[in-house]
Amino acid sequence: MSDTKTKQTGYHAWLEFHPIAPGERYDQYAVHSRIVCTEKDEVIRTAVQELSQGIGKLLGKEIRVAESDAGGAVIALGTFGGGNALVDRTFGEETRSAIKPEGFAIKIDQASGSIVVGASSTSGVLYGAFHLLRLFSTKQAVNELDVIENPVNMLRMINQWDNIDGSIERGYAGKSIFFENNRITTDLTRVRDYARLLASSGLNAISINNVNVHKWESKFITGEYLPDVAKVAAVFRSFSIKLFLSVNYASPLEIGGLSTADPLDPAVREWWRAKAAEVYAAIPDFGGFLVKADSENRPGPFTYDRDHADGSNMLAEALKPYGGIVIWRCFVYNCKQDWRDRATDRARAAYDHFKPLDGRFMDNVILQVKNGPMDFQVREPVSPLIGAMETTNQMIEFQITQEYTGQQRHLCYLVPQWKEVLDFETYAKGEGSSIKRIVDGSLHGNKLSGFAAVSNIGDDVNWTGHLLAQANLYGYGRLAWNPDLSAEEIAEEWIRMTFGGDEKLVSVVMSMLMDSWSIYEAYTSPLGVGWMVNPDHHYGPNVDGYEYSKWGTYHFADCHGIGVDRTKATGTGYAAQYKGANYDTYESVESCPDELLLFFHHVPYTHVLHSGQTVIQHIYNTHFEGVERAEQLVARWASLEGSVGELVHKHVGERLAEQAGHAKEWRDMINTYFFRKSGIADALGRKIY
Ligand code: GCU
Repeated sequence: MSDTKTKQTGYHAWLEFHPIAPGERYDQYAVHSRIVCTEKDEVIRTAVQELSQGIGKLLGKEIRVAESDAGGAVIALGTFGGGNALVDRTFGEETRSAIKPEGFAIKIDQASGSIVVGASSTSGVLYGAFHLLRLFSTKQAVNELDVIENPVNMLRMINQWDNIDGSIERGYAGKSIFFENNRITTDLTRVRDYARLLASSGLNAISINNVNVHKWESKFITGEYLPDVAKVAAVFRSFSIKLFLSVNYASPLEIGGLSTADPLDPAVREWWRAKAAEVYAAIPDFGGFLVKADSENRPGPFTYDRDHADGSNMLAEALKPYGGIVIWRCFVYNCKQDWRDRATDRARAAYDHFKPLDGRFMDNVILQVKNGPMDFQVREPVSPLIGAMETTNQMIEFQITQEYTGQQRHLCYLVPQWKEVLDFETYAKGEGSSIKRIVDGSLHGNKLSGFAAVSNIGDDVNWTGHLLAQANLYGYGRLAWNPDLSAEEIAEEWIRMTFGGDEKLVSVVMSMLMDSWSIYEAYTSPLGVGWMVNPDHHYGPNVDGYEYSKWGTYHFADCHGIGVDRTKATGTGYAAQYKGANYDTYESVESCPDELLLFFHHVPYTHVLHSGQTVIQHIYNTHFEGVERAEQLVARWASLEGSVGELVHKHVGERLAEQAGHAKEWRDMINTYFFRKSGIADALGRKIY
């Protein structure tokens, strides 16, 4: 790809490194035009290469790399005790002991004016280098630097839902960069560039294949594919990212020639032990297995009357000698439900299946729980399973790919949604039990914990289809590193790094991003009820698309009212899965927050919300306003003509115009449906069909 093309299209994403104009900051940075590094480790070499390239682009000059310090202001980097005199001189015992395995310190050496990056591990050095690049490319002052950073979460993982045929489940940005024509890609250039993006945002783990593991992908753990998987692992290793594979629970049957996959069968256990040995022989630092079992028709331990502790522990036992882990997904529910049966509630399922198993999982098993009880809707309550298992490792799963949030044709900056989830108070151990403290392992003192999210990238030149959807990938990495960063801070970093520092552009794009989730929510399904989408592909409005289906996703709208009664008193009892004040808040129609009202309660259309509007009027108002606000996005972006590259301006403009048009479709379908059901006219007399 030519540089002009990639620059114009966002290929370099937030690692664009726009040249800095002469002036104060330029001079401050330019004195550091030499990098001093004595270590030769692969990850350190990556750090040096990234720094020299990045700063070279920012300053428009070549950055020299030396092994020894010839005096003057340089950038020195290395591990503590790794042989770099500046590093060892700058960081005393206090700093060293404050740095955790992947953390780093950056400090100005007053004597020489050098910037010194030190860490206890090579990965810390790499994160330090990327941090410094972020400071430079967002034009921060560096003359008084004194930074200590440790990642808050241990596992910071991305899940690819890529298939060996090159397709991507729920992918909206082209084909897979990992697989083509039933083989693992031989040209790994793009994979390497992806690894850079991930590492620079702070991520440290990846599973490269879809959680739905089909026939061919089941063989990834065999000699047929392992040599190629090992090549991919090597690329990620140089960026300090561990590689995982999704595995098929029924592998012993499907690729092993056994007649069962019963987790308690000695032959099955032996088969997995041998398999683990084979995988680790090929990839000594292999991360482990990601497993979707007994979920949406995937095989699992239920077939053998065993439970999920039996199933995951069997795999954990096989991986244990190598330090590998099992990431076991909790997305387990009955996907063949009878819509007539109102007692079965899909929202309850994960908690009902897993909570009773607390204490039975091996310490190298970690349960991966989706952020909400249903499935990545634009609005859901937080999953009550997170934090409810005191002696079980858990991690949270987000979805960066915009399956239900506009499929990267609509703008939807998801960081504010994730922040709400992370800040949610669960009362798991009384006050101070926020989700972020559960998933960082601190609340229950877990050995393993962290973040996972489904990636939004493909082989589109700009990675994410909609260029502005890159902010979600970047933002996810930054939040996984530090969940206390605000959505605005992250957005600002991303905008400055991606587009440069034009102040008008920063403020316009920032406001567009920050408004986008609420705009998308406004013209789609109202008040937390979810699911009013076309079946299968999930794009576009279809109020009854899932109403009479087997998937357990209903809104129960009739001529009187709408919503799902999930109370303990009269409904499915789901509300009782919450602790303390949360249960009371959700159980009562009076205290339930408006945005989740229809998730927890079935109410008449004339029910008055806290906002003072009736449910029906809220539906009409938000849908009319949502379209107007989507149209304003088009106008706001149009005002940036000349501030961003022409191609980028055109590309984003087209997506926003499509969004505004599609928002009208949403508005008219939803409003018409509810007008016809309720017979209640819009108080403002606007056009409803
Ligand atoms: C959703 C999604 C599926 C995916 C599943 C999962 O249901 O639509 O494509 O496989 O989530 O998370 O396993």
